Amino acid sequence: MKNFKDYKDSSRKENLKFESKVVHGANGVDPYTGAISYPIYQTATFMHHGLEKTDPYNYSRCINPTREELERTMCILEEGNRAFAVTSGMAAVSLVTSLLNPQEHIIYSDDVYGGTFRCVNEVLEPYGIESDSIDLTDLELLKKTIKPNTKMILIETPTNPMMKVADIAEIAKIGHEVGALVVVDNTFLTPYYQKPLTLGADIVLHSGTKYLGGHNDVLAGIVVVKDEKIGEKLEIQMYINGAGLGPMDSWILLRGIKTLALRMNKHSENAMKVAEYLRKHPKVEQVYYVGFPDHKDYQVTKKQTTGFGGMISFRVDSLETVNKLLTSLKLVTFAESLGGVESLITHPVSRTHTEIKEEIREKLGITETLLRLSVGIEDAQDIIDDLEQALK
Ligand SMILES: Cc1ncc(COP(=O)(O)O)c(C=O)c1O
Repeated sequence: MKNFKDYKDSSRKENLKFESKVVHGANGVDPYTGAISYPIYQTATFMHHGLEKTDPYNYSRCINPTREELERTMCILEEGNRAFAVTSGMAAVSLVTSLLNPQEHIIYSDDVYGGTFRCVNEVLEPYGIESDSIDLTDLELLKKTIKPNTKMILIETPTNPMMKVADIAEIAKIGHEVGALVVVDNTFLTPYYQKPLTLGADIVLHSGTKYLGGHNDVLAGIVVVKDEKIGEKLEIQMYINGAGLGPMDSWILLRGIKTLALRMNKHSENAMKVAEYLRKHPKVEQVYYVGFPDHKDYQVTKKQTTGFGGMISFRVDSLETVNKLLTSLKLVTFAESLGGVESLITHPVSRTHTEIKEEIREKLGITETLLRLSVGIEDAQDIIDDLEQALK
């Protein structure tokens, strides 16, 4: 019988290319039955083998084989040593920030996902944790903002929705000088395009709801760490808060991950075409896409990522155009979320970033004429045609 807890078990696949790793996962095949589709261990509890025996599984809040297969797969893909699959991206943010204690200080990207902003302001601050939200593409500003009690730097890169790209390796160096943990939200690019742990980050997190799942059909969060001690702390926290992902949802995520490489290629290819189209449109004032060579952070992107992903933000000429566009689209859907096979468009000011104060939003450029488009894997011309008719 295989020992599921032995991570080294996966080493037989270490030399595979990423495209093969996503398909074959950690165990991939069920070691007990040979089932090609990893089984959904839909059980709350497990039989004990005897008073003197240590059982590999005891209770699904703490450990479940399907979730474990997902966690081990994510360890392989992100090149980490411990992973945790939780019930949403926000559960992942909460799990990671639970490492902070009162009187400690966190620095985080200024235009993060609204939920992360809310977590800092409504949970961490009242708990006595100090915070500063800054433009992490400005390394001098980061150095000035760091304090002796800075214990965590939370980077979202590219940022949501302004698509700023922070230099992970440089931030890791600066953070580590003061003993701060460097955390990267890797939701937008996934390990297919960006591997923060290999760039010096300590922790990587995901909203697995997005590209990892990839089909807008499951909520999930992932945390991957390099350091075993941090892993142990997170494991205890997981046992306590009980946010472990259920077996069925773990399986849905595992299935989504199998096509991650294929999907990311298509998202990226489509996004470049759509971004180029939008850029030329007379009603579009600005397009924010990290794949443009004249994007202000393009050199950082080239240095740390192997692709650009499927996310575009763009500014149109008026609120009237926003309204007209959102109500006339037929293929692209006006909905929150991102990273699925279907193209989705959202209006950050009124949907994903309502938690952020108006003056901060204005300063960041998150205005009422800004839209965020998650380019799906449909035919690129169909997406462009839909935008064209809706922008008329
Ligand atoms: C970058 C990023 N991180 C975290 C989250 C939170 O994820 P979830 O909605 O799965 O809780 C989101 C959600 O949109 C996101 O865009």
